[in-house]
Amino acid sequence: MELSYILNELGEDRELYFNAIAPPIIQTSNFACKTVAEMREMLKHEPDVYFYTRGNNPTVTLLEKKMAALEGAEHAIAFGSGIAAVSAAVLSQVKAGDHVVCIKKPYSWTNALMQKFLPRFGVEVTMVDGTDANNYKNALKPNTKLLYLESPNSFTFELQDIKAIVAIAKAHNCVTIIDNSFATPLFQNPLAMGVDLVVHSCTKYIGGHSDVMGGVICGKHETINKIFVQEYMTLGAILDPHAAWLLVRGLRTLPVRMERVAATTKRIVAYLSNHPKVEQVLYPFLETNPQYELAQKQMRSNTGQFTITLKTEDINKVDLFCDGLKHFLMAASWGGHESLIYPVAASYNTGNYKSSLPFTMIRFYIGLEDPDYLINDLEQALAKV
Ligand SMILES: Cc1ncc(COP(=O)(O)O)c(C=O)c1O
Repeated sequence: MELSYILNELGEDRELYFNAIAPPIIQTSNFACKTVAEMREMLKHEPDVYFYTRGNNPTVTLLEKKMAALEGAEHAIAFGSGIAAVSAAVLSQVKAGDHVVCIKKPYSWTNALMQKFLPRFGVEVTMVDGTDANNYKNALKPNTKLLYLESPNSFTFELQDIKAIVAIAKAHNCVTIIDNSFATPLFQNPLAMGVDLVVHSCTKYIGGHSDVMGGVICGKHETINKIFVQEYMTLGAILDPHAAWLLVRGLRTLPVRMERVAATTKRIVAYLSNHPKVEQVLYPFLETNPQYELAQKQMRSNTGQFTITLKTEDINKVDLFCDGLKHFLMAASWGGHESLIYPVAASYNTGNYKSSLPFTMIRFYIGLEDPDYLINDLEQALAKV
């Protein structure tokens, strides 16, 4: 299916809505039946009918159809946040007594799910360095049911060799799930590499404007329908129709935004990796990165995130640099129109978000601003270090 068709036409049904170009927001909790016979039919055919919005809603379905097509999946199911999608996907594959192998240093709340939540329900989890696929293999146990990937992973942007890990999983009869939020369906398609379920935080690039939250799971009909009747209907972390509408609107411009973000990020990474005050840039598409070849093999492009370490031993200098940036906002998340930084120094040895990473590390997300505008800002802030 062509990308332009998916983004502009697939699932639109315009003739049902006065030929409006933008789809309506079907803001309803409920759908009425005229007769008992009709209701009987409805109940028989869920999840393929509109009966109650906690199950299905046409505006949400539109997003699901497009996300499934973008990932080359048979089916997709949308959630109210990315972590709701991650949790539902993982919970759908394990039960008490099972074992999971998960990439070390995934997104923080995925980490909490793996290390704190699952063990409460009798699921054992081993976290591995995913840069070597053999670490997944060596961690396997007779009761291993799930291999969980996030490639590139959060903050340090290490890749996992997706095909090699899928081969290990298949040989051991395990399911694989990958968080593909960083790469987007435009730049990496794990289902085509044999992964069973792909999850996304749509809050990031899919929405693209920092004004909506959502998540999605893409996979086979049978698996998604099972998730529908179990985790989806029971936990109720559904996507609101208005949020689905904003995400569909975000999808319209995803290719142009990603092209711009990728090009600007390349320029900024080139600038920072040659700067004397920068110790290291963690970015898979840097030629000096040991995973550069793998990045080119399994991804179609870089995106907008990377991490730097500053050349200093003094946390105050890190604060000085970050506080000195005028055009980068300091915030969590990423994927919107605006460039962001997230300094480890903010969570170093403090509170619930205590980080084990060095305080000199700063994660960057590059948005849609002019590249020179951002480089000039970096230049003046680095001069303060
Ligand atoms: C890689 C990754 N996956 C999942 C999530 C969770 O997404 P959400 O914030 O939409 O729940 C995030 C959030 O930052 C993330 O970075």
